[in-house]
Amino acid sequence: MKSYNIAVIPGDGTGPEVVREGVKVLDALSSRMGFKLNYQYYDFGGERYLKTGETLPDSAIDELKKFDAIYLGAIGHPDVKPGILEKGILLRLRFELDQYINLRPVKLYPGVDCPLKNKKPEDIDFVVVRENTEGLYAGAGGVLRKGTPDEVAIQESINTRKGVERCIRFAFEYCRKRNKDKKLTLCGKTNVLTYAFDLWERVFYEVAKEYPDIKVDYAHVDAITMWFVKNPEWFDVIVTDNMFGDIITDLGAMIQGGMGIAAGGNINPRGVSMFEPIGGSAPKYAGKNVINPLAAICAAGMMIEYLGEKKAADLLEKAVIEVTSRHLKSLAAGQMGYTTTEVGDLVTKYVGTLEV
Ligand code: IPM
Ligand code: MN
Repeated sequence: MKSYNIAVIPGDGTGPEVVREGVKVLDALSSRMGFKLNYQYYDFGGERYLKTGETLPDSAIDELKKFDAIYLGAIGHPDVKPGILEKGILLRLRFELDQYINLRPVKLYPGVDCPLKNKKPEDIDFVVVRENTEGLYAGAGGVLRKGTPDEVAIQESINTRKGVERCIRFAFEYCRKRNKDKKLTLCGKTNVLTYAFDLWERVFYEVAKEYPDIKVDYAHVDAITMWFVKNPEWFDVIVTDNMFGDIITDLGAMIQGGMGIAAGGNINPRGVSMFEPIGGSAPKYAGKNVINPLAAICAAGMMIEYLGEKKAADLLEKAVIEVTSRHLKSLAAGQMGYTTTEVGDLVTKYVGTLEV
């Protein structure tokens, strides 16, 4: 029997609650589909930081490299200053594990309330390929004369030929494999960011020559936010830099029904990848059994698909669709008509009973 070793980082806030449901579903799925998942839990997060002053121990990166995948709940704690846990844990893992792609599907499932008038599941089904190790996130820049009226703050966007090219190549490959509209849109800001996006644009059209089967298109980031709302059906796969990808995928999450369902994968195609619900730790809902676990469950689905268990991932998605279309009143925390645990139970039930 195939077996995979998974590092689980439940993390902060509602992270542990949603990860518990994800693992419950994975267990049902793996036993039905004939593979095995071995979990090892890590307590990285805000609580540990408050107790020990440590975000990630130095040994963590090497240890995590030995797993087949990482399953993450959420990082972020109301008692820790913004930036410490995000940079010290989440971004550090993305960077040091060289997870250079952040893959974020935006898909409206049947039964889910969409805030866009007259848009249906067939209209909202695209994937954002976000560069995940460079850009404004690289941490380049600095501050001068801090706290004085003459303070200077510089935050630079780093775009390397290598980083841009590997991201764009991934997006073309992904678009070809996805085999939907075979259309890849570059999202940038070539009219203003004339150094960074000139590089992106040149590499994009250069690599495009190797993919004559893929239609290519370009959109400025400001315009793309407009089109996500007006014409989401235009999009198949979108490739963009780290910062723009961060922003447009929150909008993407909203048009697919909210943070309750939005999942993502931090991918290193030649290393260990990490899968997470993209919503954050939602401290005000923590411990209340009201948060929607579907985002974490969908992240688990992305993880097993990535591990090669495509049939199991398809079954999981079908089970999620049963739950959104037949059961949930809303995807919002506290308004689902079910508790967190009950939603996990429902998906588990369908995973056990639906036809494969
Ligand atoms: C995300 C989050 C992170 C990011 C934060 C928590 C650092 O917003 O995964 O999109 O900006 O990448
Ligand atoms: Mn974000």
